[in-house]
Amino acid sequence: MLEAALKEVAAAGDRKTLQAVRVRYLGKKGLLTAELKSLSSLPPGERRQRGQQLNQLKEQFEAAIEAKSEGFKQTELQAQLSAGSLDVTLPGLRFPPGNTHVLSQITNELVDIFAHMGYQAVEGPEVEDEFHNFDALNIPKHHPARDMWDTFWLSSGEVLRTHTSPMQIRYMEQHAPPFKIVVPGKVYRYEQTDTTHEAMFHQLEGLVVGENITMADLKGAVVELSRALYGPRAQVRFQPSFFPFTEPSAEFAVFWEYADSGKGKWLELGGSGMVHPAVFQAVDKAREEAGLPRAYEGKTGFAFGLGIERLALLRYGIPDIRYFYQNRLGFLRQFRG
Ligand code: DAH
Repeated sequence: MLEAALKEVAAAGDRKTLQAVRVRYLGKKGLLTAELKSLSSLPPGERRQRGQQLNQLKEQFEAAIEAKSEGFKQTELQAQLSAGSLDVTLPGLRFPPGNTHVLSQITNELVDIFAHMGYQAVEGPEVEDEFHNFDALNIPKHHPARDMWDTFWLSSGEVLRTHTSPMQIRYMEQHAPPFKIVVPGKVYRYEQTDTTHEAMFHQLEGLVVGENITMADLKGAVVELSRALYGPRAQVRFQPSFFPFTEPSAEFAVFWEYADSGKGKWLELGGSGMVHPAVFQAVDKAREEAGLPRAYEGKTGFAFGLGIERLALLRYGIPDIRYFYQNRLGFLRQFRG
C-alpha cells in the first residue's frame, strides 16, 4: 500500500491532485484510515505490532505529502517573483516637485505679517447662516445695504458666505476682548465672471477689539501692512466710505511707485472702519442667549477686509482673475518660491 501511495504522491502534478491522493488514503473513508480502524477487531498481541507498522506507514506517507506540497510552494513563489520582476535598468519616471499656489503664498505672507503684529489667524465656515453673514453685522433683512452682496442662497436658508466678516461675529461670541485676529478664507458672490470678478475668491479679514482702540490704531496696522508688502516708503491713503458694520468706514489704498520714477498710481486694497456699536450689541445679545457674560459694552475696535486675488493681480500684473482657478501648470509654475 505504501509503495502505491508513494507512487501516487510522486505522480501528482498539482495541489488538487495531491489533496485527492491524501483523501484517498487518509480521508474519513480512506484506505489507510480503514486499516487503522480495523485494528480494534484484532487480538491484543497482533494489534500492537500491526499498529506500529501502520503508524510508520502513515508517517512516511504524510512526510511524502509534506515534501511534495513544499515543492509546489517553491514553484509558485518562483512564478510570482518572475511575474513581478522589475527591470531596474529602465529609465525612471519624473515626479517634478509642485509648488504652493500663488494665492496660498500671498495668504501665508499676509498671515505672517500680521502674526508679527500679534494677530492670531482663525478660520470660519464657508456655509453661513443669515444671522452671522448679515443680521449681526448690522445688515437687516429687506435693507438696501444687503444689495452690496450678491448672494448664493442655499435651499436650507443658509448662504455661501459673501465675505469673511461673519467670522468677526463668531469669534466675539466665543471670546472676550482684548484680542487681534485675522481670518483668511474663501468667499462667494453670485456674479458674472470677467477679468476682475469671480464667483469665488479670497479675503483676509482683520478684527482688533480692546480698551480705547482708535482709528489711529487702524491706520497704524494698515501702514505696517503696506510697508511689509511694498517696502518702507509705501504711502497709504484713507478715503471715507460706507459699510453697515463700521462707523466711520474707510477704504484704504497704497501708492504703487514704478521703480523710483516718482510716477505711479493708487491701488485700492480694501475696506475698514471702527466696529459699529450695533455689532457689539448683537454679539452681547447672542452671548447672553448662550449663557455667556456680556463682554463688549464700552469696548472699541477696528476691522478691515481685503481681497487676496486683487493683491496678487496687482503684484504680478496678472491680466485675468480666472487664471488662478484654471489649474494650468504653465501659469502656476511661474510662482515657484
Ligand atoms: N466685508 C466687506 C466686503 O466684503 C469688506 C470689509 C469692509 C470688511 C470693511 C471689514 C470692514 O472688516 O471693516 O465688502
